[in-house]
Amino acid sequence: MTTDAQRKARLNDRTIALVGLMGAGKTTIGRRLAQALGMPFRDADAEIEAAAGRSVSEIFQAFGEAAFRDGERRVIARLLDEPPHVLATGGGAFIDDETRKLINARAMSVWLKADVEVLARRVARRDTRPLLAGKDPLEVLRAHALARYDRYAEAHLVVETGEAAHQTAVDAIIAGLNQRLVASP
Ligand code: S3P
Repeated sequence: MTTDAQRKARLNDRTIALVGLMGAGKTTIGRRLAQALGMPFRDADAEIEAAAGRSVSEIFQAFGEAAFRDGERRVIARLLDEPPHVLATGGGAFIDDETRKLINARAMSVWLKADVEVLARRVARRDTRPLLAGKDPLEVLRAHALARYDRYAEAHLVVETGEAAHQTAVDAIIAGLNQRLVASP
């Protein structure tokens, strides 16, 4: 019989990478998930900013999106070399073929999925996202949903987050990952 402690130990075996559109709660839910599992938490965007000494918006402005994606790929590769942790990735990371392959090879990927209307309301609270600057968030997110969902669907696990409390998403992620471990021990 598998005890809770054994299940938790297995969950903590591998980095858990959260992917999904802007506003999906990757950072907030990621922090709580890390706390629940007793794992460290890392935020890829924050690590990129620390490495570059500039904000994500400044990197986009000074060097363009392609350069940001290169830096993002390098930083995520470095993080995946670290001991297991919960990793919040930026919304576009899993869309880059190389980054996605790396994440799926080295981590358990979890797509946090929510309706674009919910996401649009959430992202309106912050103005730090270069891809939304001066644009209608709902339009951008609808376009991203169309362009990106096929790639997000390659994640190991999909968790619908909706408007429920973050803890509900954390519980669903833990239950979903446990189920996968039971299905493929
Ligand atoms: C991006 C999402 C952002 C950040 C950058 C690009 C995207 O991260 O990496 O602005 O391409 O969707 P969040 O998903 O944490 O907002």
